Amino acid sequence: MLCMNTFVQAQSVLAPAAIIDRRVDSLLSLMTIDEKIGQLNQLTSDWIFTGPIKNDNDKVAQIKKGMIGSMLNVSGVKHTRELQEYAMQSRLKIPLLFGLDVIHGFRTTFPLPLAEAASWDLEAIEKSARIAGKEAAAAGVHWTFAPMVDISRDPRWGRVMEGAGEDTYLGSLIAKARVKGFQGKGLGDKESIMACAKHFAAYGAAIGGRDYNSVDMSMRTLWDTYLPPFKAAADAGAATFMNSFNDLNGIPATGNSYLQRDILKGQWDFKGFVVSDWGSIGEMVNHGYAANEKEAARMAIQAGSDMDMESRCYRDHLYQLLKENKIQHSQLDDAVKRILRKKFELGLFEDPFRYCDSQRQDAQWNRASHLQAAREIATRSMVLLKNEKQILPLPNHNIKIACVGPFVKSVRDHLGFWSIEWPDDSSRIVTLWDGINRKLGKGSSLVYAKGCHTNDADTSGFAEAKRAALQSDVVVLTVGEERNMSGESKSRSSLRLPGVQEQLIKAMVATGKPVVLLIHAGRPLVFSWAADHVPSILYAWWLGTEAGNAMADVLFGDYNPSGKLPMTFPRNEGQIPIYYNHFNTGRPPATDSSNIYVSSYIDLPNSPRYPFGYGLSYTSFSYESFMLSDTSLRGNQTLTVTVRVKNTGKYPGKETVQLYLRDRVGKAVRPVKELKKFEQVYLQPGETKEVIFSLTTADLAYYDNELNYNWEEGVFDVMVGGNSRDVHMRSLQWSK
Ligand code: BGC
Repeated sequence: MLCMNTFVQAQSVLAPAAIIDRRVDSLLSLMTIDEKIGQLNQLTSDWIFTGPIKNDNDKVAQIKKGMIGSMLNVSGVKHTRELQEYAMQSRLKIPLLFGLDVIHGFRTTFPLPLAEAASWDLEAIEKSARIAGKEAAAAGVHWTFAPMVDISRDPRWGRVMEGAGEDTYLGSLIAKARVKGFQGKGLGDKESIMACAKHFAAYGAAIGGRDYNSVDMSMRTLWDTYLPPFKAAADAGAATFMNSFNDLNGIPATGNSYLQRDILKGQWDFKGFVVSDWGSIGEMVNHGYAANEKEAARMAIQAGSDMDMESRCYRDHLYQLLKENKIQHSQLDDAVKRILRKKFELGLFEDPFRYCDSQRQDAQWNRASHLQAAREIATRSMVLLKNEKQILPLPNHNIKIACVGPFVKSVRDHLGFWSIEWPDDSSRIVTLWDGINRKLGKGSSLVYAKGCHTNDADTSGFAEAKRAALQSDVVVLTVGEERNMSGESKSRSSLRLPGVQEQLIKAMVATGKPVVLLIHAGRPLVFSWAADHVPSILYAWWLGTEAGNAMADVLFGDYNPSGKLPMTFPRNEGQIPIYYNHFNTGRPPATDSSNIYVSSYIDLPNSPRYPFGYGLSYTSFSYESFMLSDTSLRGNQTLTVTVRVKNTGKYPGKETVQLYLRDRVGKAVRPVKELKKFEQVYLQPGETKEVIFSLTTADLAYYDNELNYNWEEGVFDVMVGGNSRDVHMRSLQWSK
């Protein structure tokens, strides 16, 4: 029997990679085949689950035998300590890894990741992940299954709420920020947890926006659009990757050697490990790719899936596959080593209980600074879509407000999907009602009417809502989809407001009172009537623990909204997929409307309801003196783009200045514009700041059809503006 002290004594937390590798090798040499297979086996605790669960009463026995390498859905130092103690009864005392979906917060819930992306505030996004990481680490969690870095161009897909939206450049920067946030000072620091870039790859392009569906895309689109955020996550040091449920051009991602071996572990030299998605190894049978679970296990390990989440195919079949020489010992060893390496890096061999400190857990609980950070990013995540007649911001004195709608007093809804619920949530989460109440000053009053439920046909509450509106100066109306309508397995074919909510909006507008509409959702919704008839619209997503305070901050002007849409909002579902960086086609819609043989709909313009990058402020900005340093550049010269942005309104405010580029002619056709840079500027009324961007040929490169990554000489259009539609443009020639 091995004495683990040999490892324990020699282990230092931030040991250099070479020392860790030696320790991994020496541990591996002591392991039986069963123990190796055990390391690849990840099972859920029975406390929470996110997929079909197989009943297993013998998990404790399996842990004691070293047959489980990792558990998911376990948190809290009491539980993690209990399970880790069982692991310490195994022959080699290899610690368990505890993984959890810490997607947008742990004890403190932050806005949905898509909402945070709307802030375009990389520092705040990193901070939100840092806080989530600290809180989770203090509660025994070693590893989050985040960030999700799937590009998503289809709002029917419920998981758009979990990512950074449609843009590759913004998505890559956010991927990096989130990885850095979760991993903090690096593995080995007790406050860090491992990040997991998921879902590798192209899951966001599920056909028809239907979750788990197939993906069929060109290699060029894969490389140009879908892979860069993963590469950014890998470059930022993401410790792990998760593969995905979809097949990509006929090959399930879990069994996809091209993705996992050639690209990730080959070209990108990724040293971490890949975990399958929940049951995805076994699901290759349903895909019709593996004849049975044994074959699925063979295909998955050969393709580079290291850890099996919940399918048990590795546990049940790898031994036999080895005996039959259908897989190599080296393949098994490689997967085991990758996992052990992370356990060493986390310092778990030095102290398997280093994440199980109840004092630390208590110290990270309910921290005011965490709530403050959640409130700040929540205010920055809201997007002002419309503000006719400057109804917003509202005064807080001498005003009668009718708060109407199904979400005025909502509590847990604000957590959104992929959040962790706590028994005391009802006293922690700030409702809109409470948030507004706290702000009200002298001579003001509030009246409430629910109006309707979210998702039924009952209009009996309309009368009360009308009465409330008529006795008030303004109606603050909340509508949207329920928190569980966006998320995993929450695809929708209709993106309309459910139930009778649109009728409620009409009823409120018909009262003649000014209406401020707050829309809660985890995705872009379609709300054409409201967009045309309601004077003020704020997109409020699901904003987390501090939602009500944040919404009140924005409604009363304590924060001037600065969010910009990370996804294009369609006019209706028929336009989907719709995204700003599309190709031009041979027949772009003409300005001369007599030509009908163009690429358009006969019943709808091509343009979206709200373009990517769009979002208003209580103030206004003008763009002046837009200049390029040169209109003819060579090779490795740098182009400097300057623009003076002026606050032309009454309030101080923040603008996200966006730079788009178009490559007019390419070996393969190029998008009509692509985001290349952005910068946020904060301006006092009347203040002007010069924003300077630098572009080099690195910003021009793309993958052609042979997958060469190059830039080509020619004419480029540089566009600058406050969203992807309203831009100023100048052109230049860039030659080799
Ligand atoms: C999801 C993953 C998640 C996993 C564990 C799966 O169903 O696709 O994103 O990390 O469950 O909860």
